[in-house]
Formats: sequence, structure tokens, C-alpha cells
Amino acid sequence: MELLVMSLRLFFSPTSRAILLLSLFLSVSKFSLATTLSNETDKHALLEFKSLIHDNPSFLASWNESFQFCQWVGVTCGLKHQRVIGLNLKDQKLVGTISPHLGNLSFLRSLNLANNSFSGGIPSEVGHLIRLQNLNLSHNSLEGEIPVNLSHCSNLVNLDLQYNNLVQQIPSELGSLSNLEILCLANNHLSGRFPPSLGNLSSLQQLQFEENNLEGEIPNTVAQMTSLKYFRVALNHLSGVFPASLYNLSSLTFISLTDNNFAGNLKPEIGIALPNLQVIWWSGNQFTGSFPASLANASGLQEVDMVGNYFTGNIPMSFAS
Ligand SMILES: *[C@@H]1O[C@H](CO)[C@@H](O)[C@H](O)[C@H]1NC(C)=O
Ligand SMILES: *[C@@H]1O[C@H](CO)[C@@H](O)[C@H](O)[C@H]1NC(C)=O
Ligand SMILES: *[C@@H]1O[C@H](CO)[C@@H](O)[C@H](O)[C@H]1NC(C)=O
Ligand SMILES: *[C@@H]1O[C@H](CO)[C@@H](O)[C@H](O)[C@H]1NC(C)=O
Ligand SMILES: *[C@@H]1O[C@H](CO)[C@@H](O)[C@H](O)[C@H]1NC(C)=O
Ligand SMILES: *[C@@H]1O[C@H](CO)[C@@H](O)[C@H](O)[C@H]1NC(C)=O
Ligand SMILES: *[C@@H]1O[C@H](CO)[C@@H](O)[C@H](O)[C@H]1NC(C)=O
Repeated sequence: MELLVMSLRLFFSPTSRAILLLSLFLSVSKFSLATTLSNETDKHALLEFKSLIHDNPSFLASWNESFQFCQWVGVTCGLKHQRVIGLNLKDQKLVGTISPHLGNLSFLRSLNLANNSFSGGIPSEVGHLIRLQNLNLSHNSLEGEIPVNLSHCSNLVNLDLQYNNLVQQIPSELGSLSNLEILCLANNHLSGRFPPSLGNLSSLQQLQFEENNLEGEIPNTVAQMTSLKYFRVALNHLSGVFPASLYNLSSLTFISLTDNNFAGNLKPEIGIALPNLQVIWWSGNQFTGSFPASLANASGLQEVDMVGNYFTGNIPMSFAS
């Protein structure tokens, strides 16, 4: 970029050598200033993060001046810029809140604080981490809403917030995370409807929303999630017929609808439409009609749980195979 600017300047005003030298000097000094500032910012952000952790501090004992921050336990730096690209502190019984300063780790690609005792909210500043690919805050005691600003982390591949105390709606803005493969929001207190915008997640393979308070019908847009393998929404208050959009997703292997208010008949050709099914947990709903013989076509089927519905008729002979 700088080179391009310089050569343009040379081309248009070949006599202004002073300006050229000045701009060269400015760009060099700006560059070194930026790098010094930024690795110091990473160190500062990590120390601010540590300062809000008030239990099991011994695990972070190496986070001191004897070591450069890239050597601190749980910290991974990129070789080129010596900036933090990974922070993995899972399973350490850490107690505290998550500092908004983590949003300053601008090279961060993976943040894993899973299985600790972090409480308080997920800071919106995490939305500044545009290089983030993996965010795992599962198995903590996080409260409040899922920050809308997480939708700015456009490189996210895995988003796992399961087993927390998150409330309110699933932000519809998450539908813009086009690289997302795993979206796990299970075991929280999320309410409201299933956002239709999530249909835009065409790379999504695992959708896990079980054990929340979601209500309403599954939107038709789910039919666009053509990579989906796991559709898990058990233990909510979802309703409507067996989601028609699911019949389009032949990649599905695992459908868990247990303990919702789904009703109506299953399409007779369901086993033809979904030949890769391995696990179907559909108990505790109000499905009616006959048990679809075509399910035998899904020859990889391993688990079938349909208890507590209103099916009539016999188990089809085709199931013998
Ligand atoms: C930041 O980088 C500069 C230049 O490479 C280095 O001198 C300094 O020690 C680094 N600071 C930290 C906190 O690592
Ligand atoms: C830094 O941490 C290491 C490892 O826990 C410890 O041996 C060392 O004494 C500490 N240094 C300071 C200055 O606290
Ligand atoms: C959480 O960490 C503990 C050890 O601190 C481990 O025994 C347990 O299996 C972990 N749980 C999960 C869900 O990973
Ligand atoms: C880092 O983040 C905090 C809180 O989000 C902010 O107050 C601070 O100014 C940021 N910048 C630096 C250079 O630490
Ligand atoms: C969240 O994103 C909005 C823009 O969508 C921005 O104005 C706001 O400052 C962000 N919040 C934080 C805490 O970064
Ligand atoms: C997040 O961490 C938990 C606990 O270690 C683990 O079970 C889960 O598989 C992780 N999620 C992802 C998407 O890797
Ligand atoms: C996503 O889906 C919604 C509704 O299904 C749509 O209005 C929106 O334009 C789509 N695109 C993005 C990038 O969110």
C-alpha cells in the first residue's frame, strides 16, 4: 500500500523529493510505533484479564515479569508478530469475570475459557476480535444476553456457549456468521423464537439449542442450512408440525426434538428424504399418524426414541432389516 502511494507520488510529481522522504519517514515510524504499542497492548490486556480472576490465581503464577507474555501458561503467540493468537485456560477452576480488555487482543484466533467459574456478562468487546475462529465459553456461569456484537467476528467457525445462564433472545445478527460450523447454545435460559436469519448459516454442521425456553415454530429458512448434520432442539417449547424444512436436509444424521410441542403426521417418505439419519430422538411430542416405514431406508440408524407420542398402527415390517 505504502509502496503504491509512493510510486504514484513519484509519477505525478517527480520533483517533490522532500515530500517523498518525509512520507517514507512517517510510514516507517508509524509502523514501528504500531508494533511496539500493540504487543504492549496484548500484555496489558492479559494482565487486566488476570486482575479479574480471584480464585486459583496460582495457575496464572507464570503470568509475571520473569517471562515474556508469549511464555505465559495458556498463551500462544504467532511466530511472526509475537502477538497473542490463542488463549486456552479451560478446566482450571478459575473464578471471576471476563475482562472487556480481551477485546484488545486483536490477533486472537482462539479463545477457550470453557469449564471454569466465570460469571457476569460476555463483554461486547469480544466483537472486536475479527480474526477469532474459535470461541468456547461453555460450562461457566455467564449471565446476561448473547452480545449482538459477536456477529462482527466474521471468521468464527466454532461458537460454543453451552451450559451457562444466558437469557433473552438468540440475536438474529448471528445469521451473518457465514463461516460458522458449530453453534452450540444449549443449556441456557434463552427465550423467544428461532431466528429465521440463521438459515443463512450455510456452513453450519451442528446446531445445538437444547434445554432453553425457545418457543414458536422452526422457520422455513432452516432448509438453506445445507451442511447441517446435527439438529438438536430438545427440551424447549417449540411447536408446529415436524419442521418441513428439515426434509430438505439430506445431510442430517442426528435430529433431537425430544420434549417439545411438535405435532402432526410425519411424511411417509421421510426415510427417503433423510437417508443418513443415525439418531432420532423425537419422544415427548404430539406426533400422530402411522410410523413411517420408509425410515428403514436410513440403514445407518442406530437410535430411535419415539416414546410418548400418538402414533397409531404397527411397527413396519421393514424395520426387521
Ligand atoms: C514488544 O516488541 C518490542 C520489539 O520487538 C520488544 O522490544 C518488546 O520487549 C516487546 N514487548 C513485550 C511486552 O513483549
Ligand atoms: C514468576 O513465576 C515463576 C513460575 O511460577 C516463579 O518461579 C518466579 O519466581 C516468578 N517471578 C516473579 C518475579 O514473581
Ligand atoms: C471440567 O474440568 C474438570 C477438571 O477440572 C474435569 O474433571 C471435567 O471433566 C471437566 N468437564 C467438562 C465438561 O469438560
Ligand atoms: C483496551 O480495552 C479497554 C476496555 O475495553 C479500553 O479501555 C482500553 O483503552 C483499550 N486499549 C488499550 C490500548 O489498552
Ligand atoms: C458494538 O457494535 C456497535 C456497532 O454495531 C458499536 O457501535 C459498538 O461500539 C460496539 N460495542 C462495543 C462494546 O464494542
Ligand atoms: C468447548 O469446551 C467443552 C469443554 O471442554 C467441550 O466439551 C466442547 O466440545 C468444546 N466445544 C467445541 C465447539 O469445541
Ligand atoms: C439472512 O436472512 C434474513 C432472513 O431470512 C434476510 O433478511 C437477510 O437479508 C439474510 N442475510 C444476511 C447477511 O443476514
